[in-house]
Amino acid sequence: MCGIIGYCGRRPAVPLVIEGLSRLEYRGYDSSGIAYLQARRLELVRAEGKLAMLENKLAERSSSLATIGIGHTRWATHGLPVERNAHPHRSQNDALAIVHNGIIENYQELKDVLSSEGYVFSSDTDTEVLANLISFELDSLLVERFGQGAEFSKKVEEYIEKSNQNSSIFIEIMEEAFSNALKKAHGAYAVVLLSPMIPQNIFAARLAAPLLLGIGVGEFFVASDVPAFLPYTKDVVFLEDKEIAILSDSSYEVKSLETGHVVKKEIHHIPWDIQGAAKDGHKHFMLKEIMEQPKVLRDCLAGRVQDGKIVLPELDGIAVPTRIRILACGTSYNAGLWSQHYLESLAQIPVTVEIASEFRYRKPLLSTGELILVISQSGETADTLGALRLCKERGHTVLGLCNVLGSSLAREADATLYTQAGPEISVASTKAMLSQMVLLLLLSSYWGQRKNLYDDNAVKTRETILQGLISLPAVLDDLLPALRKKANELARKYAFAHSFFYLGRGLAYALALEGALKLKELSYIHAEAYASGEMKHGPIALIEPDFPTFVVAFDDEHFPKVRSGILEVQSRQGKVIALVQENCHVECEDMWYLPETSLPEFLALPAMQLFSYEMADYLGKDVDQPRNLAKSVTVE
Ligand code: F6R
Repeated sequence: MCGIIGYCGRRPAVPLVIEGLSRLEYRGYDSSGIAYLQARRLELVRAEGKLAMLENKLAERSSSLATIGIGHTRWATHGLPVERNAHPHRSQNDALAIVHNGIIENYQELKDVLSSEGYVFSSDTDTEVLANLISFELDSLLVERFGQGAEFSKKVEEYIEKSNQNSSIFIEIMEEAFSNALKKAHGAYAVVLLSPMIPQNIFAARLAAPLLLGIGVGEFFVASDVPAFLPYTKDVVFLEDKEIAILSDSSYEVKSLETGHVVKKEIHHIPWDIQGAAKDGHKHFMLKEIMEQPKVLRDCLAGRVQDGKIVLPELDGIAVPTRIRILACGTSYNAGLWSQHYLESLAQIPVTVEIASEFRYRKPLLSTGELILVISQSGETADTLGALRLCKERGHTVLGLCNVLGSSLAREADATLYTQAGPEISVASTKAMLSQMVLLLLLSSYWGQRKNLYDDNAVKTRETILQGLISLPAVLDDLLPALRKKANELARKYAFAHSFFYLGRGLAYALALEGALKLKELSYIHAEAYASGEMKHGPIALIEPDFPTFVVAFDDEHFPKVRSGILEVQSRQGKVIALVQENCHVECEDMWYLPETSLPEFLALPAMQLFSYEMADYLGKDVDQPRNLAKSVTVE
């Protein structure tokens, strides 16, 4: 979703802010902007479209003296993606500028009050309302301290002059104004403020939207995500809800919004290197992230399998559940749905898998002791967090499965298993799903192990699974180049299609869902996934020669039925791509064979990812930043 970066230091701020924004581009955006203080003047530049447009505008200005600045990439929620709605937004009197992620739900009421006080708005955003609300609070405090006629709006120059002489008073006043305004704003925000009145400082605060500080030497950053400042520091402070941070070039302080007391914060060291957030010679981040999946498998398994046993110390304090409810969105939901088979067969635990946004908006009935397993790459998906909070309020234990260290999910769950996939930059999720699947499989085996279950009822034994997992990185290393070649051939052949069916049964059904999701989000080709058995209940009516079907199937007890389904499609002249294991005997227009392994899902997933990747690239689409999409969906 939207990206935020703020810099306070001694180096030129504008290039650093632009670089930070470019590292956040992957989150998806439609406009961008920057505010900085140049000789104490508040300068603001914004542009519609890609970051290059903003850079072109900045090239016409001089900003070399600025050592403090804030920037934003916007993904429209309130108002069209046009320049006047882009962030930063300044208050009417130029007292301050802010960037903001999230939504101020009561913005209309606040706007009405401010309008009656004479404020005029030039954008359609809730953010401009917040900027003016802070400025309104600021004016009131200035009047209180310095008497009538002291409003900042009327005396900007004079106040800048005064604040030069006694900056601590103005920092204090700004802090109070900022807090007062935020207490009146309902909803979600990660907000960062810059003002000529406090020329050495940046203010930041969060409520239900991610915001973190980068702790450097003689410089500090604030950002919505780590990659924004990763080349400069790996030391991070995660802000919690209702905390305010005040940064300068020599220090930072975090306070509680409610009490005003200083909060002591822990500094976390991020184990990523900048290489992990770079394309590494690949044409796109997505391709890099697909191709690095053997490494992801190794990293994800590291230390978790010892002497044939699964070791997950994060779960030491959590009892083996009697029921599990999995909550997630999008690709993470697909990983959860896939794991239901393993959790039920290896751990003998009944599992319900639900889309978080559906779950949280009804009155769900949960069994006593039901463990909530929340899955999210980013750990910041608003609906997933909403579902998590609902379950916690009802007293359920929440286990999180998450990739981003220190994310909201990781901090709010009772225990968290990190997927250790490294930064996922491409908007479309690939390696994160693979790592989620590894952990879910380990988790299923781990609970089976803790229950001392023998494998009589399991489709695959624990031992087969562990051996399969351990051999997977090497198998995938060898296979990926061939998968890419085949994906490329198929993409060229099927690029004519306007619609695709994806079919799967059993373990392959969730993969079919994921294949269809990847194809539509990247290539904009309509793709629909069905459990193979459902075809004859309606969807098959659509089959015709130009409507291809992508079948994913494994050498298991379901295959005879899948083959019948394929024949039904073929007898209606439908073309079929069959992604199957070598022992699956069937004749289709296009056969795509996977080697025989005990865990073919881990080979089929990259194959399908590559098919969508090659299709999107061949059709000339924006692979890493598909239209209308954002990396982490922090709005509901
Ligand atoms: C699809 C995709 C999305 C995410 C979904 C949940 O490629 O990336 O469907 O999977 O928005 O995101 P997380 O896992 O961050 O909660």
